[in-house]
Amino acid sequence: MKRLVFALFLASTASFAEDGRELVPMPPAAQEALQQEMIENLLALNEVLGLIGNSKFPEAGEVAEKKLGVSAMGKHRGKPVDARPGAHMPEVMHNIGVQGHVAASEFAVAAKASEYPRAMSLLPNLTAACVGCHSAYRIR
Ligand code: HEC
Repeated sequence: MKRLVFALFLASTASFAEDGRELVPMPPAAQEALQQEMIENLLALNEVLGLIGNSKFPEAGEVAEKKLGVSAMGKHRGKPVDARPGAHMPEVMHNIGVQGHVAASEFAVAAKASEYPRAMSLLPNLTAACVGCHSAYRIR
């Protein structure tokens, strides 16, 4: 996973001047759902970092699992296909998303157990998913 994301990152930075990211077309409803989810992702990540900064590891783990982890997957499942971002993603992109949720859950397990060094070593796997996907794909 780490290697995959890093490779994508390198591939995309090489041509960043002309925006080498792959355009992934989505219906407006899916775009809107994605944007909303992304804003929430950033808020959740910030919340997790704030809790870590205050040495509240179990709480950081709870938030990470609930808002970013595997528990947060499938939010759009009940919606029509037009409003489900995941349904319009190429497989590799979708997999990066899934890996991000898994990484958040792995971090959450360690954080909830107050295993500080392990939690901190797992946290970059989560941000690697954010970076990996953003470096490789765009929707407009
Ligand atoms: C599977 C792919 C994927 C992953 C993983 C992902 N994002 Fe995104 N994100 C996108 C796409 C696509 C856009 C829209 C880019 C565009 O406008 O073309 C986006 C946009 C955003 C935006 C801008 C929203 C706006 O106001 O327009 C934020 C903030 C964001 N992502 C945060 C995050 C954070 C934080 C994470 C990790 C916890 C994350 N994303 C993980 C695909 C992803």
